[in-house]
Amino acid sequence: MTPTAVNPQSIEQAAALLRQGKLVAIPTETVYGLGADAANPEAVAKIFAAKGRPADHPLIVHLAYALQIKDWAIDIPEAAWRLASEFWPGPLTMVLRKKASVPLAVTGGQDTVALRVPNNPVALWLLRVFDGGIAAPSANRFGRISPTLAQHVADELGDAVDCILDGGPCSVGLESTIIDLTDSQSTILRPGRISRSQLEEVLQRPVGLKSQHKIRAPGMLAAHYAPATPAYLCESGTLLNLFDEQCGQGKQVGVLAFSPELSALPCEHLLHLPAKAEAYEAALYSALRKLDSFGLDSILVEQPPAMEEWAAVNDRLGKATL
Ligand code: TXA
Ligand code: MG
Repeated sequence: MTPTAVNPQSIEQAAALLRQGKLVAIPTETVYGLGADAANPEAVAKIFAAKGRPADHPLIVHLAYALQIKDWAIDIPEAAWRLASEFWPGPLTMVLRKKASVPLAVTGGQDTVALRVPNNPVALWLLRVFDGGIAAPSANRFGRISPTLAQHVADELGDAVDCILDGGPCSVGLESTIIDLTDSQSTILRPGRISRSQLEEVLQRPVGLKSQHKIRAPGMLAAHYAPATPAYLCESGTLLNLFDEQCGQGKQVGVLAFSPELSALPCEHLLHLPAKAEAYEAALYSALRKLDSFGLDSILVEQPPAMEEWAAVNDRLGKATL
């Protein structure tokens, strides 16, 4: 399946495919999503088949407007409206109590539903024309790296998808922040571009960060967002030692770094990313995919600092590496 250019005809066609229960890959500001009509359980089942994803892992329902929360959720706390007005459209997903009408296929059998209004003109255009909720996980095979270009989706899902709308590169590049609002204590289930302090500032109260307690979020599995090549996370000193050691053993080693001291490493497969968190985020998944495509023996990833602005990157790198 080659990516389709975005124009009024292709948007109409994509909406028609969704109405027919087919799969449409859509650009969002975070990553590309594999979309289906969220009100159609058979269409949603195709997402799980295409991804090879276990059926009990819930999906995010994408909406055009914040007011549509009412079509999908009940017991909506005031906090949800406040967060929506501050951060939507944008990279924030809210988990709320689901309405009885929401298919269990979407929620992985749970009584809660994840909702988001994406900040991408193509996604919003399609959502308005389709006039319903689009269930969409990241458009990659289960456990693999999320796609940030239409071509990534084509490479990975091929003809398992009926249309791939080409919206260019994703501007954020990492999946949305997920906040659970079903308890009196709001909890971040997955860190993203919207930070804990931004959420706390809007809510005017502390926000928890998921601990190890059991939540059925696939992004919480230990190995996720992962390249097929064994990847190791280490700070620059250790990275240099490992690099020498592995090259000495005749291994083909890739390096993903950001600090100036590693920029001149004599490594054929060195990718040097920006040292600013947001620019690094936008480039990370493409870089991991590229390093993975070389078929190397290992990938050494330089550990970013343990600072809040790097929280989402550190979360994903922790899961992408051994
Ligand atoms: O940025 C994003 O969120 C992208 C774009 C396409 O919107 N989507 C995405 O979807 O990352 P996915 O399926 O790869 O990750 C969705 C996460 C999963 O970790 C899932 O378990 C969690 O959202 N989730 C969905 N519904 C949930 C629920 N009811 N309770 C807890 N977690 C939920
Ligand atoms: Mg995913």
